[in-house]
Amino acid sequence: MNISAFETNQLDELMEFLDDNLNENYEKNVFLNIRKRWPEGFLIVENKGEIVGACCGAILPNEKLRVLILVLQRDYQRQGIGKDLMNRMIKSSKIFGVKKITLEVRKDSEAIQFYRKLGLSSVDLLPCYYQDGCDGIVMEKHL
Ligand SMILES: CC(C)(COP(=O)(O)OP(=O)(O)OC[C@H]1O[C@@H](n2cnc3c(N)ncnc32)[C@H](O)[C@@H]1OP(=O)(O)O)[C@@H](O)C(=O)NCCC(=O)NCCS
Repeated sequence: MNISAFETNQLDELMEFLDDNLNENYEKNVFLNIRKRWPEGFLIVENKGEIVGACCGAILPNEKLRVLILVLQRDYQRQGIGKDLMNRMIKSSKIFGVKKITLEVRKDSEAIQFYRKLGLSSVDLLPCYYQDGCDGIVMEKHL
């Protein structure tokens, strides 16, 4: 297993991976912009040269780290990799004086339990936030 910074030549494979493993549809350009803004916060997990996980975030002006994507292929879940990716993002965000993590998660997602384990709490509800009409939950943690 290898965790490294996302390279632009991985874009097509990443799009395929996200399509297979998440419900939302994304535009390619979005990921190039995210990488341009904060390359150290955009990580890819590979096994035998194949993408099995990814995460990316953005540093907001108000000393917040917003986690945009965090996903692992099902066979690679519950092995501590998600926690490792979050910790790596938090570590690289410290240089920007980040004091809070924020993210949105589907109301029907098991990931809420994962984020609770990491110390995040639900602070807001976003009605019909996702493309299929599912509500979003905003979760945050002070660092
Ligand atoms: C959510 C996700 C990123 C978590 O990553 P992971 O590698 O499976 O989680 P970890 O193994 O690092 O777990 C860290 C802790 O959270 C707990 N946890 C993880 N998933 C959990 C779940 N579904 N229910 C309850 N607890 C969970 C683990 O037991 C572990 O607790 P511990 O530290 O006491 O042992 C991963 O399951 C995933 O990709 N899910 C599908 C995509 C998704 O929903 N992404 C989030 C969108 S915002």
